[in-house]
Amino acid sequence: MAGELPDVPRSATVRQRSFPFDRCIPLMAKVELVRLSKSYGGQPAVDGIDLEIPDGVLACLLGPSGCGKTTTLRLIAGFVEPDTGEVRVGGALLSSRERTLAPEFRRMSMVFQSYALWPHMTVAENVAYGLRLRGMPREEVRRRVDAILSVTRLSTLSGRYPGELSGGQQQRAALARALAVEPQTLLLDEPLSNLDANLREEMRFEIRRLHDAYRYTTVYVTHDQAEAMTAADLIVVMNGGRIEQAGSPQDIYQHPRSRFVASFIGGTNILEGEVLARDTVALDGLVLRCREGEAEGERAAVSIRHHEVQLSGEPFGAETNGAAGTVVRQIYLGAHRDYLVALAGGTQLRASAPMELDLAPGTSIYVYLPPENCRLLAA
Ligand SMILES: Nc1ncnc2c1ncn2[C@@H]1O[C@H](COP(=O)(O)OP(=O)(O)O)[C@@H](O)[C@H]1O
Ligand SMILES: [Mg+2]
Repeated sequence: MAGELPDVPRSATVRQRSFPFDRCIPLMAKVELVRLSKSYGGQPAVDGIDLEIPDGVLACLLGPSGCGKTTTLRLIAGFVEPDTGEVRVGGALLSSRERTLAPEFRRMSMVFQSYALWPHMTVAENVAYGLRLRGMPREEVRRRVDAILSVTRLSTLSGRYPGELSGGQQQRAALARALAVEPQTLLLDEPLSNLDANLREEMRFEIRRLHDAYRYTTVYVTHDQAEAMTAADLIVVMNGGRIEQAGSPQDIYQHPRSRFVASFIGGTNILEGEVLARDTVALDGLVLRCREGEAEGERAAVSIRHHEVQLSGEPFGAETNGAAGTVVRQIYLGAHRDYLVALAGGTQLRASAPMELDLAPGTSIYVYLPPENCRLLAA
């Protein structure tokens, strides 16, 4: 038996035997992380996170390099044991400090950044491998492999070896292999980061399309906000081992709750100033009334996206939220122009303006920051 299962380390099998819930992971796969922590050398990589991913949802863990995304994924997969907290799937406890179910018993598939396809096997053999390992009858394996290759648009390439495929095709083959075993949970770690920009954009839609076809609960790790916006039902923004905010792409974009989230998702200006009232901040000749958030303390920050800032060659004539400035630079981007504007005291802000507004550096300009687009955040 051991000879047929070379991937199963002995220690994992032993650990698994002592685990009481190993055979009863239910089909409904809600993934729950409860106060989950993992430190390396006294430094927390994952710092007490709580998260619930409902069954069938595609969640993106999004954040800068080193914020703990991969560690979180490896904790879910069972490659890493938590210092504290729990991983539960469908209510069953899979990881805790006391006991951890080995990865191969979790009904999870993981796709790595490097694809990790077997180079000596064709695409079809790679995809079939996990099914053969489970002792599935030959005919059933063929049927399942054909179906998956068709969905992943690899049917005509089924006889090729990984070395004969483009990056995108290898990525699709890795996905096909992960999907073939009908996992309960699909784990993807920066699956597109080795692809060039155009293909990356196409594959985002591809991953979403496959998710809609299979609806496995999916945890997708990326540092690319556009990827998360395209693919995810739920975006989980991480920073320094913690979750800053979790919500729908729209919620995260429109209602960021911290400076970090506001600036990580979408181009935004963060302007720090003196609090005049719970909804009003003053800085550099600007008095900003804000529609969202509440100021506490003496200083607060206002977040407004580049495309929400209005520019004009004429004064706006509004009582608040407008000021005069000077064009620092202007870049023509075809559909619009990207402006950098300096206010009287030197504060700079970026704005995207219609292509028709063409003002040279050094020209006087007027800015208006509509209150409904100004979000108050802690300083
Ligand atoms: N096996 C390990 N040994 C020591 N430190 C690690 C290990 N894995 C991750 N770390 C550290 O934990 C932090 C989070 O890493 P990681 O989860 O890989 O972040 P991300 O995937 O978001 O880039 C980093 O500071 C990293 O150096
Ligand atoms: Mg990583």
